Amino acid sequence: MTEQRLQALDLLKSLGITVDVDAFERDGCGIVRGFATAEECDEMRQSMKTLVENWDPKEVTVFRTDGKQSEAQGSSDYFLDSANCIGFFLEPMAKDEALGTLKAGLSKHEGLNKVGHGLHVQDPVFRKYSSSPKVAALAHALGWVDPVLPQSMYIFKQPRIGGEVTSHQDSTFLFTEPRQTCLGLWLSLETATQENGCVWGRPGSHREPVRRAFCRNPDWFEKGKRDVPQMIFRMEDEASLEKVHWEGAMPQGSSPKEGIKNAGFVPLECQKGDLVLIHGQVDHLSLANTSGASRHTFQLHLVEGPSAGVQWSKNNWLQYPHGESFPSLKVTSH
Ligand code: FE2
Repeated sequence: MTEQRLQALDLLKSLGITVDVDAFERDGCGIVRGFATAEECDEMRQSMKTLVENWDPKEVTVFRTDGKQSEAQGSSDYFLDSANCIGFFLEPMAKDEALGTLKAGLSKHEGLNKVGHGLHVQDPVFRKYSSSPKVAALAHALGWVDPVLPQSMYIFKQPRIGGEVTSHQDSTFLFTEPRQTCLGLWLSLETATQENGCVWGRPGSHREPVRRAFCRNPDWFEKGKRDVPQMIFRMEDEASLEKVHWEGAMPQGSSPKEGIKNAGFVPLECQKGDLVLIHGQVDHLSLANTSGASRHTFQLHLVEGPSAGVQWSKNNWLQYPHGESFPSLKVTSH
């Protein structure tokens, strides 16, 4: 183990945080208990409440992960422009399609699916957590050498209307070259159980290749066509895709839960402050929230930076404005 990794583990230990590195390397997913304090979680929830109160939903945009994902996110400037800004995205069920507004009877706070993708750049509270030494130490402890942070998202998983997130590998959306280096840090801001839609992971699937890449469509971006989607899925590994028929969908069974269990997924249930580690190639998903309890999470996605010999793909949807780079995670940033 490198000196950088040992020092990172020591720093985490001094904060009372234990990371099972062996289990993460074996499974590609796992839980770091008590990673954030209750105060940190409450501060982020309060900050989000204020951001939503100040949001003027003149034009509402829906976020989806089903078969219409390419269509929905693939034709939206608002989505592309949210890369390093604070964008607000509704649950599909919360939009009045005829009027293009929030459905009557729903408040702004009740209809949101997520806010992203630059909270770690734009908001002081989310930036403080994202740039904290313990986040950088966690990345180093798991073997990342030069972690940089392209993306953050606050997910609401609203009571009763919080939709499912179909099975996917995060590297599909956060592609790096010449190798995949994405790591998701999924922080539970409140209890996440099977009842309110916790995340499920398929242990060991991180050793399988990335099957699809969500890419900028050259017909739109280079040839100037406007009758095509902005974003398209490029097949990276067709043979593997045939075996994993739940990619971009859900494993089928006599019930949703039985289907995903039979496919090898396990529930990753959390208490407030726990953090789920999600390797960029591990299959993961979450079921709809049919309970009366929300399931707020703050999620970071990091990748290796140039010092580790890794490049962010120019085909990814998420690109910062020219001249701006992803924040670098450093243990000594504070
Ligand atoms: Fe994900």
